Amino acid sequence: MQITIFGASGKTGRLVVQQALRRGYQFVAYVRDATKLSFTDANLKVVQGQLDELDKIKQAVTGSQAVLSALGPTGKKESDQQISSGMANIVNALDALEIKRFIVLSTTSSQDPHDIDSMKFKLRRGMIRIGRPSAYEAIVKYTALVRQSKSDWTLLRIASLLTNASLTKNVQVGYLGRDKFKAKLSRANLAWFMLEQIDSTEFICQAPAISD
Ligand SMILES: NC(=O)c1ccc[n+]([C@@H]2O[C@H](COP(=O)([O-])OP(=O)(O)OC[C@H]3O[C@@H](n4cnc5c(N)ncnc54)[C@H](OP(=O)(O)O)[C@@H]3O)[C@@H](O)[C@H]2O)c1
Repeated sequence: MQITIFGASGKTGRLVVQQALRRGYQFVAYVRDATKLSFTDANLKVVQGQLDELDKIKQAVTGSQAVLSALGPTGKKESDQQISSGMANIVNALDALEIKRFIVLSTTSSQDPHDIDSMKFKLRRGMIRIGRPSAYEAIVKYTALVRQSKSDWTLLRIASLLTNASLTKNVQVGYLGRDKFKAKLSRANLAWFMLEQIDSTEFICQAPAISD
């Protein structure tokens, strides 16, 4: 099975690729700077491109049964805007090529109708909106684009501080105000859970929050 991933050069993205190669998938990694991927593998094809290069994006997803995004805003305005406009191109490519499975990292800055909102969550969102405005805006915008796509999307909303702790395969998944979440989420667990979604129909067209 061939999978394409955007954001493969990030801390979570690299773990997704490493774990996926161990599972035997053929992987296409779309990155803006190929030198950031420090490993090579016969089953890994690296495509270097920007998120505004629609034709290149289409080529990178052609033949893939699932597309993953580990793209994440960095808090730099111009770069964060590229993520939301780039997500529009990725969605365009998937819809045009009728690729259904689309698994995308997001955060709880983007609300879900299943969440039960509270002052605590409002304050948390407010702090991010004020402290990291471009990141907040990018997350809200690209999450809306994914939801509007024709794909079988799953948004995995990071609910906690990301860590480099080792893989335990033990994650809490649910909705704010309904379920309990830990303060941390290991990137290894996040990568594992993301890959678990490829063959799972459990969270299709859903956006659960996730923590360790
Ligand atoms: N750190 C936390 O505790 C925390 C908590 C909650 C949520 N989050 C969210 O989780 C996300 C993922 O975490 P992470 O640690 O894996 O992030 P990361 O290492 O910063 O990875 C972000 C990825 O997005 C790519 N990217 C960013 N802007 C881009 C652009 N304009 N064009 C193309 N690619 C772009 C980066 O590419 P390059 O490698 O080329 O830069 C990288 O591959 C974060 O971005 C953040 O929004 C983090």
